[in-house]
Amino acid sequence: MVTGRSAQWYGGADRNAYIHRAWMRRGLPPHAFDGRPHIAIANTASDLTPCNAHLDEVGRSVANGVYEAGGIPLNLPVVSLGETQVRPTAMLWRNLAAMAIEEMLRANPIDGVVLLGGCDKTIPSLLMAAASVNLPAVVVPGGPMLTGTFRGAPLGCGTDVWRLGEEVRAGTLSQAEFLQSESSMIRSKGHCNTMGTASTMGLLAEVLGMTVPGVAGTPASDSRLLEAAHTTGALAVELVAADRRPTDVMSRASFLNAIVALAALGGSTNAVVHLLAIAGRLGVHLTLDDFDRTGSGVPLLVDLQPAGRFLMDDLYRAGGLHAVLHEIRHLLDPAALTVTGRPLADHIGEARIHDPEVIRTFGKPLREEAGIAVLRGNLAPDGAVIKPAAASPHLLRHRGPAVVFDSIEDLHARIDDPDLDVTADSVLVLRGCGPKGYPGMPEVANLPLPSKLLAEGVRDMVRVCDGRMSGTAYGTVVLHVAPEAAAGGPLARVRAGDTITLDVAARRLDVDVPASELATREPAPAAVRAFARPDRGWQRLYVETVQQADTGADLDFLIGSSGDRVPRESH
Ligand code: FES
Repeated sequence: MVTGRSAQWYGGADRNAYIHRAWMRRGLPPHAFDGRPHIAIANTASDLTPCNAHLDEVGRSVANGVYEAGGIPLNLPVVSLGETQVRPTAMLWRNLAAMAIEEMLRANPIDGVVLLGGCDKTIPSLLMAAASVNLPAVVVPGGPMLTGTFRGAPLGCGTDVWRLGEEVRAGTLSQAEFLQSESSMIRSKGHCNTMGTASTMGLLAEVLGMTVPGVAGTPASDSRLLEAAHTTGALAVELVAADRRPTDVMSRASFLNAIVALAALGGSTNAVVHLLAIAGRLGVHLTLDDFDRTGSGVPLLVDLQPAGRFLMDDLYRAGGLHAVLHEIRHLLDPAALTVTGRPLADHIGEARIHDPEVIRTFGKPLREEAGIAVLRGNLAPDGAVIKPAAASPHLLRHRGPAVVFDSIEDLHARIDDPDLDVTADSVLVLRGCGPKGYPGMPEVANLPLPSKLLAEGVRDMVRVCDGRMSGTAYGTVVLHVAPEAAAGGPLARVRAGDTITLDVAARRLDVDVPASELATREPAPAAVRAFARPDRGWQRLYVETVQQADTGADLDFLIGSSGDRVPRESH
C-alpha cells in the first residue's frame, strides 16, 4: 500500500495514476513512485535575480542529498524577485510571489519542499508560502557575496553606494571615481554582503528554526554551502518521515528569538514587516510592539555595515550566527525548536567568537541598546519604526520644521533646489510611499539630503516616511509610518513649516498641530493619489487588499493558511 501525499497522484492502477506517472517517467525508474517522498526544490534562481543566480548549483547539491536519503528531488522554479531590478519595487511583488509559490506547492504531487532563496524578498516570500501550505519545509539561504574592494578599501554593497553617491553630491568625490567603483562592488556570486535585508532574513530563517544548523551566513562561494545544501536535501526526506511541518517549528518563541537576534545582529528594519507577515500566515500572535518590548534592550554585538564596519564574510570568519547566539543565549527561549527536531539552543552550545572586533561579547557590546524602537503619536497612530543604531545619537530627540514632499518625483524635483527652504534642523517628510500609495512601499525612506546642506557638511537629518528603507541604509529615519498617507493617515495632513517632534526615548512622533485642526485639514491631494489607482491586474488587487506596515503588509485574504489538502483530480 503506497501512502503519502504524492501517492495520491501516483498510487494505484487507474488511468489518472497512469497519466501522472507516465508524464513524469522521463528517466525516473518505476520505484520512484513506490511511495518514497517527492521533494520539491523551490528555486528562485534567475538571471534577473543576480543575487540568486547560483542557486541551480545549490539545488543540485540538495538533489544529491534527497536521493541519498531515498527521496525524489524535483526542481520547481518559482517566482523570483531581483531587488535591484524590478520596478516599481520588489516589495510590490512579495505577496504575489508568496501566493504563487503557495499555490504551486499545493497543486503539485510533493511531500516536502526545500526553499532556495537569497535576495531580499525571496526568503520572506518562500517562508510565507511554506507557512500557508504547511508542508514539511526547510530553507537553504543562498549566502552573501565575498567582500569587494576599491582602491584597497572594502566596499559594502548597498551601504557604500549610498555613501559614495552622497560624496558625489557633496562634491568630495568625482563622478568618474564613483563610476570606477562600479565594477568592484559585486565581487562574487551571492546576495548583498552588508547586514541588509537578505543577510538579515537568511540569518533569521535559521533563528526561526527553518535551516540546518550553522548554514546561515555561509558565503555563496564557500564550498561548505554546498555541503550544507546536501545535508538539507537529506533532512527534507527526514522531515516528511517525521511529519515535521512549519507550524511545528515556527512558534511565537521562535519569533521572539528572531527579534532578539535581529537586535544583536543590527539587522534590517525590513525584517519587521517580513516577520509580521510570516507570523500572520502561521497564526502566531506577533505585534509591532513585540519588536520594541523584546528587542530594544538587546545590545548590538555585530560590527557590520550599515551600523558598523565589517561585512558578512567577516561575520562568518569571526564565528558566524552561532557565536552571536551563544552570547545572547540567556535571552533566547530554549523551547524554540528547529527542523532538526531539537531546540535552537542545542545547536549553539560550542560556538565561540574568533574575532572580537567583528563580534563583540555581551559584556562589551558595540552599543548598549540596539533593536528597533516603535514610535507612536499623532503622526503615527498605528506605529512607525526607527533603528536607533543606524541613527545619529544627537538627532534621537529633535524638533524641527517640516519640509514636505508628496512623492518621490516631487522629492527629486526639489531636494537640490538652492531655494528650498531647509536647514539642518528641518525634518524631511516624504509621503505617498506606503503599500497603497506608491504602490508597494518602496525603499525610499532614507531620502537624500539637500545638496546645499551636504556641501555645508551636514551628513544626517531627521526623515519621516510611510515607505521602507533599504537594510543597507543608515540615518535618523522614521519609517513604516502607519496608517500611510494614502490610507488616510495623518501624514497626509502635515504642511510645510509644521513643527515635528521626534523623541525616541519617549517613543513619540508628533506634529505640533492641535488635534481639532489636524482632523479637519484636507489631506494633500498629491500625497493620497501619488499614482493613479491601478485599474486592473495584480496592482489593482494589491492596492485594494494590502494591509498596513504595522501588520506586515500582506494581502488581507492571504493571511492564514489553507494547508496542504490535495486538490481534486484534473481529469
Ligand atoms: Fe539582492 Fe541586495 S540586491 S540582496
